[in-house]
Amino acid sequence: MASLNNLFLLLTWVLLLFMLVDSSEQASLLRDDFYKDSCPDAKSVIKAAGCDASVLLDGNDTEKTAPINSNLIGYDVVDDAKQAVEAICPGVVSCSDILAYAARDSTVKLNGTGWTVQGRRRDGLFSCADAAENELPLPTFNVSQLIESFARRGLSKTQMVILSGSHTVGVGHCDKFIERLYNFSATHFTDPSINASYAQQLKKDCPQAIFNTTLEIFMDTITLGEFDANYYKVLSEHKGLFTSDQSLERRFDHRFGKAMRAMGAVGVRAEFQVRRNCRTVNPC
Ligand code: HEM
Repeated sequence: MASLNNLFLLLTWVLLLFMLVDSSEQASLLRDDFYKDSCPDAKSVIKAAGCDASVLLDGNDTEKTAPINSNLIGYDVVDDAKQAVEAICPGVVSCSDILAYAARDSTVKLNGTGWTVQGRRRDGLFSCADAAENELPLPTFNVSQLIESFARRGLSKTQMVILSGSHTVGVGHCDKFIERLYNFSATHFTDPSINASYAQQLKKDCPQAIFNTTLEIFMDTITLGEFDANYYKVLSEHKGLFTSDQSLERRFDHRFGKAMRAMGAVGVRAEFQVRRNCRTVNPC
């Protein structure tokens, strides 16, 4: 279960990274069922496991080396999927499309309803740690910062709220919200927007003294590992881990898939390539 969550995080993080790129040309490039003729079996092979897959590139100072991405795992699962697809259709299916299909499939495995994935993304040629570090939204963001961050990539307020509902699965590490528990402000030692008894519990789970960055807390404490709307209930009870989420108390429904299609279309570039190996750009 943990690996599915992590894979979903990797995939969704990748989608967020694609948001770094100008969104003007993208949606029209994508197609439903794009591999129907060129690689009809791709979807069934990918099962297990975007928009330019730059987070997959190995190397010094690539996105995967950025501290904000330090907890990402699951790269090997993408490698396996790529290898399987290359075996049946060499050079046809991009790493970024593999990620997009896998994001959908991992939510279905967690009992989500899924959505139709658009295909035809190309894999980027560059990857830069600073871009990830400077551009990804932070868990300390307030509502205006979140709205602005998504709006810069052409995504609406509503889409931002719906996409944040993906925190129905997975974990947050203590270091991502510890500032809400201890020495929060001059007037409040602990963030008053956290339910008081839940804050007590979190302090036990994430003690200040022996605090380390490997401790993990489930974000949706009602239905662990289920892709459902319960995260919003968690938030309405003031039990969200992050300021960014606690500011959002809304419904979560089939609009998630629609919003994922919109996010998955950000930063798609026709001039990029289909990588042979997801970890390196193709040799000249
Ligand atoms: C709105 C802005 C967002 C912020 C500030 C944010 C922040 C975070 C943070 C801080 C974590 C915990 C990471 C860790 O402790 O290692 C996390 C986990 C996660 N996020 Fe987000 N996120 C955002 C949007 C999204 C979106 C749009 C998706 C997917 C559509 C997503 C999917 C996930 C998943 C699945 C996890 C769990 C990962 C795991 O279990 O390892 N997040 N997010």
